[in-house]
Amino acid sequence: MELLNEMLKRRSVRNYTGEPVPYEKLMMILKAGLSSPSGKNKKPWEFVVVEDREKLMELSHCRKGGVRMLEKAGCAILVFGDTEKTDVWQEDCSIAMTNMHLMASYLGLGSCWIQGRLREVDNGESTDTFCRKLLNVPDNFSLLALLSVGIAEEKPTPHTEDELIMSKIHCETF
Ligand SMILES: Cc1cc2nc3c(=O)[nH]c(=O)nc-3n(C[C@H](O)[C@H](O)[C@H](O)COP(=O)(O)O)c2cc1C
Repeated sequence: MELLNEMLKRRSVRNYTGEPVPYEKLMMILKAGLSSPSGKNKKPWEFVVVEDREKLMELSHCRKGGVRMLEKAGCAILVFGDTEKTDVWQEDCSIAMTNMHLMASYLGLGSCWIQGRLREVDNGESTDTFCRKLLNVPDNFSLLALLSVGIAEEKPTPHTEDELIMSKIHCETF
């Protein structure tokens, strides 16, 4: 099954060459995010693409201990949700993240989900506030996560069907 194979191939990649992400591929990734389903079709997400190296270096301090992978990523896509538009913005934005992560893999790029919500920077400020200040994001938006994207330093090993934990599937009762 072709789609399942693509899903199994998707891995989290944290080491990049520092090369930029080709524009056409970046657009495909963003379109994958925009094509996500959302509760009541409200599409509460906004994506901020950061390619500027200096800004990526600043973003690498968005979490306690730092996020080294951003230093050599081709770009970061930050996903913000409009908290006033819907109470399911976290679910909606998570689906957009997943679709973009999968599309990046399909296009032969490395990417990794970086948790933003509920995380802090070294001085105790929330990762959300840090990123919103850096990127001029209005107050009614909250950060769900960042997707680092880039050319992988090493080709990741795909998952295999054997790894799937079939016992997590329950029939009729738990
Ligand atoms: C909600 C969520 C948050 C994650 N946060 C981080 C993170 O902050 N940093 C990181 O390196 N990986 C993060 N990951 C990636 C996971 O560690 C990774 O998906 C998991 O270990 C499985 O590996 P795989 O993606 O290669 O299959 C996150 C993934 C998800 C879905």
